[in-house]
Amino acid sequence: MPWKRRAFSTGGLTRALNIADLRELARRRVPGFIFEYVEGGSEDEASLRCNRTSFEALRLIPQTLVDTSNRHQRVEILGRPAAAPLIIGPTGLNGMLHSDGDIGLARAAAKLGIPYTLSTMSTTRLEDVARQAGGRLWMQLYVMKDRAVAEDIMRRAAAAGYEALVFTTDANVFGSREWDRRSYRQPGKPTLRSKLDTLRHPGWLIDVLGRNGIPRFRNFETFLPPGAASAVGGSTIIPKLFDATITWDDLTWIRRLWPRKLLIKGVLSVADAERAGALGCDGIVLTNHGGRQLDSCIAPIDVLPEIAAAVGKRLSVIIDGGFRRGTDVVKALALGADAVMTGRATLYGLAADGERGVERALEILTTETDRVLGQLGCNSVADLGPHLVRRC
Ligand SMILES: Cc1cc2nc3c(=O)[nH]c(=O)nc-3n(C[C@H](O)[C@H](O)[C@H](O)COP(=O)(O)O)c2cc1C
Repeated sequence: MPWKRRAFSTGGLTRALNIADLRELARRRVPGFIFEYVEGGSEDEASLRCNRTSFEALRLIPQTLVDTSNRHQRVEILGRPAAAPLIIGPTGLNGMLHSDGDIGLARAAAKLGIPYTLSTMSTTRLEDVARQAGGRLWMQLYVMKDRAVAEDIMRRAAAAGYEALVFTTDANVFGSREWDRRSYRQPGKPTLRSKLDTLRHPGWLIDVLGRNGIPRFRNFETFLPPGAASAVGGSTIIPKLFDATITWDDLTWIRRLWPRKLLIKGVLSVADAERAGALGCDGIVLTNHGGRQLDSCIAPIDVLPEIAAAVGKRLSVIIDGGFRRGTDVVKALALGADAVMTGRATLYGLAADGERGVERALEILTTETDRVLGQLGCNSVADLGPHLVRRC
């Protein structure tokens, strides 16, 4: 008799043992075209797959017979204490997944004691997140054709007390997420099939559309033509807003305007990391945008060792892309990252059950990280190093 394994099929959050279980709960709760928006990558999705397979090629080498009863995972992120080596990364349109949206994500981050990064494409105004969630807040910046949008966001984020600005530089030419595009007849117009699918998800319909109506790009809606601020089909509307003329001169301009910590998100080479440091950045985020931009792109974890060796003493090195397990987090920290940004892992939690789901996602990741530290013979992140990881 073949042995058939089955994950729990009922029971909600408490039965989600790992991020994959949360993903399954999310898949069931939201309509297919919303899940596709979160899930998909660009073109053949080779970058998306590689972000995961690269972790598999890295193996951990444990140290045995070490007393690890004093384990903790507290670290400093941008010079301030954090309860875990994690940051919730910027994702647009969070209000499409659950009515808790950005505030739910930010509150879960604040509760744990880690930073939350609000996207320019958020469905909540940055001032409302600061007022209603608090905690350590970072603001992600997309520079669009109209530079006044960026100026407005920087001025408001500084006034609202945001600690850091995260300038995303890998979306100036937008990726083609083909599966996502197939959910729409034309930009912003879901197919009949997508529309009918919403009726099969009444819980989502009542929670998301019933409470607040169709979510909108709240952070810069005043700059958009009337009717264009609706977040439906965001990833088909957004490409038109971006600008291929953005260069390092824009970073210099941002550095002049933004008074606090500055990170650049979109670095995958030593040369770019050095240049970011020379222009006054405090940190870099190694990323391929979760496989949503350039396809066939190298996985951030594969360039981490060389970049950390080059700039790790001068700059905070943060990484994202495919992090779903404590083993993934520990591998990155051992190879020189200061912290890991979550993307889909926490979004699955949000889509599954709002703020509580995000809390569960963070609990899963921190519990796993704690266990892996112990199994490796380490009491803290400071005990980790490249000697504990080998590429096989
Ligand atoms: C649904 C979704 C929306 C995203 N929106 C943004 C965004 O607005 N700004 C940004 O800099 N990155 C955005 N990203 C990229 C994430 O910040 C992050 O780089 C990526 O999700 C990490 O990969 P992972 O999802 O495999 O963890 C988005 C990613 C997803 C999945």
